[in-house]
Amino acid sequence: MDNRPIGIFDSGVGGLTVANAINKLLPNETICYVGDTARVPYGNKSKMSILKFSKQITNWLIKQNCKVIIIACNTASSLALDTLKLKVSVPILGVIDPGVKWAVSITKKNRIGVLGTRATINSNVYHKKIKEENEKIHVFEKACPLFVPLVEEGFIDGEIPSLISNYYLKELKMAHIDTLILGCTHYPLLKQTISDSLYPSIKLVDSSLATSKELKSLLEKETLISNNEKGKINCYVTDYTETFENVVNRFFKYNINSIKRLDVF
Ligand code: DGL
Repeated sequence: MDNRPIGIFDSGVGGLTVANAINKLLPNETICYVGDTARVPYGNKSKMSILKFSKQITNWLIKQNCKVIIIACNTASSLALDTLKLKVSVPILGVIDPGVKWAVSITKKNRIGVLGTRATINSNVYHKKIKEENEKIHVFEKACPLFVPLVEEGFIDGEIPSLISNYYLKELKMAHIDTLILGCTHYPLLKQTISDSLYPSIKLVDSSLATSKELKSLLEKETLISNNEKGKINCYVTDYTETFENVVNRFFKYNINSIKRLDVF
């Protein structure tokens, strides 16, 4: 048994989709969540900056005595996970491998679409990992840089998100994919809008569930499971804004124990 918290981070609210899934599957675990709202979005930043931010947050989470770190951000998982794995003393998981494995296991037509930030798509990591699983699969990728600001603003449905989503997805709609990876942890909040821009038969892969399952296996294997009576999510943000609070209250209210400003980076 190990009652230390699980450290999770993202550039903003997106990683709360992962924290939420973990909280549902592992309700006894305490989560220490960092949303780097002062520096969101990560998706249009350089690798150097993303690596620097990810290292700072990981080090802070380790100082909080976290027993495992989850990079609940595809952009940071693409560009910083491999480096961080070599540097930290606790297990560290990203969100890309779980989503890739799930998508590869459900595609029937061997045609998978991937949506992500510019940095994630340019890193080519999804293409590489899907091909490693099955080289026959055709991969169709699209960077959707306006999706993150929409979600951070709480704009998840209605005319404007629909127009943007239709614009981004028009080529993928013609690509005969049967599976679409939401390769950014903000995008599950736009699931309905994204789905409406495509054919209803296309399966959307949200890596939060697959990541929480991978975490559960890891905790069980390493005997790191907690026996706290009830876990909670303590949330830290590098900039406390009303917009962040509104989005949290709208989508995640019941699971969040506290939101505090973190002024250390
Ligand atoms: N939610 C993140 C991701 O999964 C970060 C998006 C961003 O800050 O651009 O990529």
